[in-house]
Amino acid sequence: MAHRIAVGVSGTGSNLRALHAAAVRGALDAEIVLVFSDRPCAALDWAVEQGIETLLVPAAPHGDDAGRAEEDRILAESVAAVSPELVVLAGYMRIVGPAMLAAFARRLVNLHPALLPGFPGAHAVRDALAAGVKVTGVTVHFVDASLDGGPIVVQEAVPVLVGDTEETLFERIHAVEHRLLPRAVGLALAGALTIDPDGRTVRIDAARAAETMPVPKRALLSVSDKTGLTEFGAGLVRLGFELVSTVAPRGPCGRPVCRLQTSPP
Ligand code: GRF
Repeated sequence: MAHRIAVGVSGTGSNLRALHAAAVRGALDAEIVLVFSDRPCAALDWAVEQGIETLLVPAAPHGDDAGRAEEDRILAESVAAVSPELVVLAGYMRIVGPAMLAAFARRLVNLHPALLPGFPGAHAVRDALAAGVKVTGVTVHFVDASLDGGPIVVQEAVPVLVGDTEETLFERIHAVEHRLLPRAVGLALAGALTIDPDGRTVRIDAARAAETMPVPKRALLSVSDKTGLTEFGAGLVRLGFELVSTVAPRGPCGRPVCRLQTSPP
């Protein structure tokens, strides 16, 4: 039976959809049993359309400590009520409180659009551009009481290109996120992640991952005549293939694709 996961969102939900797509094509042995948010958003609307249970726990106003504690308590109780094995924060823009941390210790992961510990916080892509770094990236980490500071599960670099804007850089970061997050979630659900006693280092049990995780189906499209390519690409996606590209994050058939590179663990 598929592993039950709850997903936290606050925005467009492209990573939520990537998780869902990975589950649908059999690359992730998971069922999204709850999508929760702190605000009305496109991600929540999408989940409703898909018939996934949703939960909106509005963010308490800044400085309202009692409201903040109540928000944390309601969220922890409501998420626990659907018994998820793992809670995935995929663009959820709130710092989770002590009740959530206690209820889901070591079962709570977050996606961040930078190579932590560099550029924590809500404006990681903007901050990386402003700092003039040549490389930024994506991190999936366990959540603890710190801001984006929990033990790191996986990371992948994304180069910053000359002329990049926040939008163009974010688009390439998103393309990596859409592949890395389902992979990290799969590793966690496979029981392939252990946090060392130092509380910092996450070990990945590659043998266990290989035994238990579905093998991804990937297709690299290489054509000279692009006639019918859109339909062909769409058909491959329907059959459960992930499209791989050597160039843009959005391929010639207008579908999200992965960049071709060495696979992460
Ligand atoms: C992602 O870039 C994630 O790293 C950050 O928020 C963004 C959410 O994007 N925490 P989406 O809503 O999944 O499209």
